[in-house]
Amino acid sequence: MIPNYQEYLALEEAAKYSIDKNHSLIAVHGLSLRDQIHVWHWQTEVGDQHKALGEFYENLLETLDQLVEAIMGKYGRISVKSVGSPKPLVDLQDLKNIDAFVDEYIKLFDNFRNTTFKNDTEIQNIIDELVAESLKLKYLLTMS
Ligand SMILES: [Fe+2]
Repeated sequence: MIPNYQEYLALEEAAKYSIDKNHSLIAVHGLSLRDQIHVWHWQTEVGDQHKALGEFYENLLETLDQLVEAIMGKYGRISVKSVGSPKPLVDLQDLKNIDAFVDEYIKLFDNFRNTTFKNDTEIQNIIDELVAESLKLKYLLTMS
């Protein structure tokens, strides 16, 4: 059947942008994690924490960039139109908060890995790197 004009536009949009909203969501969540850690990097008064948080957000940005570009290489460009910003930034409370916050993201990344990207081992590998960096941060924070 020949699509009408509206359907044609929708098809064109779908071809241009990745159909799976989760492809965009993992990108936006990753950026949100990066921004939050950067804010805490500025707010902490402990030198070792400042350093650990700084290294984390720098490495995260590179790994996230690799991840999103690999996803787009395989599935097409992401679209943030319907995704928005998932988490508002918050001030630094204490170490427990950072640990719990990072844990939430580890769960989130694992969830994407085991559902949306369950058949994409090359993408899973990059998600594993994100998780490994998060675990390293948790460890480094036990020393400050
Ligand atoms: Fe800095």
